[in-house]
Amino acid sequence: MKRTVAALAGDGIGPEVMREAIKVLRAVEKAHGLRLDIQEALVGWDAIDKEGKALPDRTLALCKESDAILFGAVGLQYRDSEVPKEKRPERAASLRLRRQFGLYANLRPIKLPAELAYGSPLRPERLGDGIDLLVVRQATGGLYNTARKKTEAVLEVRGEGAPMQQVLRAVDTLSLTASEIERVAQMAFLAATLRRRKVTSVDKANILETSILWRQVVTEASRRFPDVTLEHMLVDTAAMQLVLRPDQFDVVVCEGMFGDILADEAAALVGSLGLLPSASLGARHQGQVFGLYEPAGGTAPDIAGKNVANPIAQILAAALMLRYSFGWQPAAQAIEDAVRKVLAAGYRTPDLRGPSTAGFRMVSTSEMGSAIAEAL
Ligand code: IPM
Ligand code: MG
Repeated sequence: MKRTVAALAGDGIGPEVMREAIKVLRAVEKAHGLRLDIQEALVGWDAIDKEGKALPDRTLALCKESDAILFGAVGLQYRDSEVPKEKRPERAASLRLRRQFGLYANLRPIKLPAELAYGSPLRPERLGDGIDLLVVRQATGGLYNTARKKTEAVLEVRGEGAPMQQVLRAVDTLSLTASEIERVAQMAFLAATLRRRKVTSVDKANILETSILWRQVVTEASRRFPDVTLEHMLVDTAAMQLVLRPDQFDVVVCEGMFGDILADEAAALVGSLGLLPSASLGARHQGQVFGLYEPAGGTAPDIAGKNVANPIAQILAAALMLRYSFGWQPAAQAIEDAVRKVLAAGYRTPDLRGPSTAGFRMVSTSEMGSAIAEAL
């Protein structure tokens, strides 16, 4: 069966890592007799420059016609002052797409392959049985998405030159409904049944009303998964435990901003953001899950255009797409195996450089992509 993919490369290193992911998809397509129709479209600053907005109508229309979105990265902080904040790519493209397609759960699998253990900032004895966890965060409600978001008490400051505005108070609100919590909890428990059957639900139930509700709803949802162990942990404790003993975690489920922070913290334990994919999933529709798949890292403008970025996160994001949205397990597995094989053979992009490069084969973005495609 043919599947269509909207490929939105975006800014910074987005285009160069996307190129490698498409190369690998073409290789797996051939090796596994699959049919993929990959359509590229503009997003981010690239789209603002060429079409006037971060998520052009044409791009959105293409996404709607597609079976999944393969996303690169958007956002260039040094250009932020060029447009009002609602129009910046982080809000106008990333958050907009999550909301538009009801992608309520964001999944970040974080795994440290044995052959890259040297890259972890943790001492070996802290790594224990290794790092292999999945952060599931609520992505359409919570602190980022609540309608009440504003700046108040704006003061006009007059001095020399044009009057300037000074904001004296800003408001964001965190609101979550029981059903928003229920859905993401269900996703976390389901994921746990395919893993080590443990869910750590992270909240701030000693302080926040939303967290008290969170704990209640997650506990209720857990009754339907009797073979999955549930534990509750306060978010500050979780932040600490992640660096003290990361091997205690299997699936971590939490509100969006808690998850944003904890996922980056967990990712840092792996030593490079260039290895980790991310999936934003919505409701099942006619047996298929629509999803947006992207690297967990950002646009990395400092290394953009130099052919040094690690394309593995984007390539693994493509594998997640084949697995979750298309149900093509063997093809997804083949990509993940090919990545392992190439790493085991010593191929390394600069971010994975160890204490020394001895025994490694240092490669560029495109060489890494080609090596993975050939391994397929
Ligand atoms: C991420 C990013 C985004 C998020 C921002 C850019 C909206 O930090 O994907 O982790 O927090 O979800
Ligand atoms: Mg983030």
